[in-house]
Amino acid sequence: MRTQVGIIGAGPAGLLLSHLLHLRGISSVVLEKRSRDYVERRVRAGVLEQGTVDTLVEAGVGERMLREGLPHHGIELRYGGAGHRIPFEKLVPGRAITVYGQQEVVKDLIAARLAAGADIRFEVEDVELHDLESQPYVTFGGERLDCDVIAGCDGFHGVSRPAIPEGVLSVFERDYPFAWLGILARVAPSSEELIYARTERGFALHSMRSPTVSRFYLQVPADARLEDWPDERIWAELRTRLETVPGFTLSTGEITERGITPMRGFVAEPMQYGRLYLAGDAAHIVPPTGAKGLNLAVADVRVLTEALAAYFENGSTELLDGYSDACLKRVWRAQHFSWWMTTLLHTFEEDDPYARRLQLSYLDYVTSSEAAATTLAENYVGLPFDVGR
Ligand code: APR
Ligand code: PHB
Repeated sequence: MRTQVGIIGAGPAGLLLSHLLHLRGISSVVLEKRSRDYVERRVRAGVLEQGTVDTLVEAGVGERMLREGLPHHGIELRYGGAGHRIPFEKLVPGRAITVYGQQEVVKDLIAARLAAGADIRFEVEDVELHDLESQPYVTFGGERLDCDVIAGCDGFHGVSRPAIPEGVLSVFERDYPFAWLGILARVAPSSEELIYARTERGFALHSMRSPTVSRFYLQVPADARLEDWPDERIWAELRTRLETVPGFTLSTGEITERGITPMRGFVAEPMQYGRLYLAGDAAHIVPPTGAKGLNLAVADVRVLTEALAAYFENGSTELLDGYSDACLKRVWRAQHFSWWMTTLLHTFEEDDPYARRLQLSYLDYVTSSEAAATTLAENYVGLPFDVGR
């Protein structure tokens, strides 16, 4: 079997790449380890930057997102007994975010790809990458896929990045001494906008998916186990951390999904080797506080699409050669923003009273200075997609 671009992984990165290439007349085959049902149900984050929304709409896969997604024009930072709104409409006019679950994006992309006759193989076993320097091919489940290039879109735990010979990549990493316990609950949101809450007991986030489904996260110890968090404990802790301003009551409901996510920043440089190009979580991950993971994947894929289009249209390798450099500026901006939001809002056990005062002082600055709030707002809604290109 032969294709122009062999894509490993059917997450948002791999699926969107396959779709954007199709729109440019470039063929691809997507190889995914999990079942279609599994990838469509996997609950992840849900904040889309304006550039991500625009990309999906331009690619013709934004119809349901525009109908069902929730446009948000601000977020609340809650601490010290008060809520402080960061008003996007005032600070970054014309730019907003859309709350729409990542698995909904994945469902829309799979539907569009299959409708266009795409070759997506689910539940493929033993994917291995070969001959990355010259004539790359992928083997899986006894089959062989020859390609001009391979796109490694198989997430943080995939096989693409480890297929790069030792010594080629520089890895930059930061582990946080806590995790997020996330739940999805059948209950109307208690707030119209997302609430990022900093308390002495740790961070909490109130997000949502629809008028009847809410999403919450709690900062928990890195070694926390779900079995130690029965429903009552989760709700009690969410109440303690969110019901900190007068008049706010948290509505509770049936918990339909739960999981624990480690918090980590990670970048592998360069994001390419020979004819292999890494995109999305395969190359970098961010702690979820800035809601950047999916948006970075979309930005990578846009850059890669342009580079591959130039290559297949006129044989030019200039953009492909510059792929990693073109992506990494944005990747590092997002790493910094995600680290900054994380340190601003979480409690660190090693923090002494002095460090806690510094954190509160910084929060006061961000919520009272227009310049500081604008820094948060413009990063949160997302920098323009041509940064670094
Ligand atoms: N072979 C084939 N597919 C694989 C393999 C493998 N060996 N290993 C992993 N995969 C698949 C996973 O099952 C998953 O469906 O690759 C896909 C990677 O998708 P994601 O993890 O969603 O990564 P990505 O597409 O880069 O999406 C960006 O942003 O919000 C964040 O982490 C969140 O997933 C999100 C990411
Ligand atoms: C979510 O809705 O899942 C979500 C929102 C904001 C974040 C992270 C996750 O920062």
